[in-house]
Amino acid sequence: MNISINAERLLAELYTLSRMTDCPATEDTSLPEPTQAVTRIVFTSRDMEARAWLKKLATKAGFQVREDAVGNTFLRWEGSDPSLGAVGTGSHTDAIPHAGMYDGTVGVLGGLEAMRSLKEAGFQPKRAIETLMFTSEEPTRFGIGCLGSRLLGGVLDAATADALRDRLAETEPGAPEGLTLAQVRQQAGFEGSLSTVKLPQQYYDAWVELHIEQGPLLEREGIELGIVTNIAAPASYRYTLEGFGGHAGALLMPDRRDALCAAAELILAVERFALEANALAKAQGHSGVDTVATVGTVAVHPGAVNSVPSHVQIMLDIRDTDVARRNNVMEKLHAEIAAIESRRAVTITEETINADQPSHSDPRILAALEEACRAEAASYRTMVSRAYHDSNFMACVAPIAMLFIPCRNGVSHRPDEYSTPEQIVLGTRVLARTLATLAG
Ligand code: GLV
Ligand code: MN
Ligand code: MN
Repeated sequence: MNISINAERLLAELYTLSRMTDCPATEDTSLPEPTQAVTRIVFTSRDMEARAWLKKLATKAGFQVREDAVGNTFLRWEGSDPSLGAVGTGSHTDAIPHAGMYDGTVGVLGGLEAMRSLKEAGFQPKRAIETLMFTSEEPTRFGIGCLGSRLLGGVLDAATADALRDRLAETEPGAPEGLTLAQVRQQAGFEGSLSTVKLPQQYYDAWVELHIEQGPLLEREGIELGIVTNIAAPASYRYTLEGFGGHAGALLMPDRRDALCAAAELILAVERFALEANALAKAQGHSGVDTVATVGTVAVHPGAVNSVPSHVQIMLDIRDTDVARRNNVMEKLHAEIAAIESRRAVTITEETINADQPSHSDPRILAALEEACRAEAASYRTMVSRAYHDSNFMACVAPIAMLFIPCRNGVSHRPDEYSTPEQIVLGTRVLARTLATLAG
């Protein structure tokens, strides 16, 4: 079968979507390629604009559109045998603050383009093919990543999800809590019970997500495509540190219980333990790069230059392909936290946001991807996904795999994130071929 993609349409749509941004900065003309700084946070008016636009594109192409109670959006091309489980693809269109224009969007618009191109070429699938746009893959607003896919996969219960708070409303620790997810999604028009979101096990016969690599390996090795064999297990935690505040001039140094100094020690301990875990793994003959840990937010109260911080909140993101190794880092961190508490007379409380399992790709879908790469004469390698993806949670209800395209310098979650038109088109073509094979 000859698979051809409407490259112009796909690239134009990626560009149109990138313009639906809340980012104050406009196009960065200092870069060699056009890039757009994108901020598109779930259920903001920009996100709603992007959703409406996507649904219109799907309807125009003759696909059915369904939205569930959390706003996951299914674009469905019915198969000749509707009794069979569908073949799913897709990703997310939400974007963290000041992000790029390719993370997630390539998988959503690539999925739609794959379906459209196959349809226009006269292909009739036996199984339905669906492109899914997940709600809030990014944790920006509700503090937890992959919100929509966690609910689809049944790893987050409805009541816990609905009680999640809008974190954007909190400017500092102790500020009044934001609205709940239940309130925010209702305002956005998604009113049903979240308990209806979980998918039945047979809903998808196969699931495959197209995404930019977000790392440097494909580009560095000059390989066109990455076939993902497993996704590293993410976990995240919120730490609240309570010390004692006061006047920055008058509160004497021996009397201090500075919550931010305690947080600084905790942050450096995180880095130290992750490095130690990697060094040990390397000594044992492993890759020695699989443990990654980041503290990416710090909120300081009262946040004044002349006031000693009394109250700090930080968030830790830690991932590993090996959950035991990740747990080991956490154990060391817990011991260090106890030591910081007693040394500095502060209290530190830990709240687990998520502590997930890794996922493994299905051999049948991996084989279909490899076959599609060979048919397109594309070079490929198998690889680990160190970023998390909605596919990690789709793995709870479906056999999954992922397909990566390279991105410039491995950069992602930045405005200069970039994949070439050729890379995007090739990825989409291989996706289309894989969907066609899986859908029969
Ligand atoms: C996804 O955005 C991730 O942080 O891996
Ligand atoms: Mn992302
Ligand atoms: Mn993504």
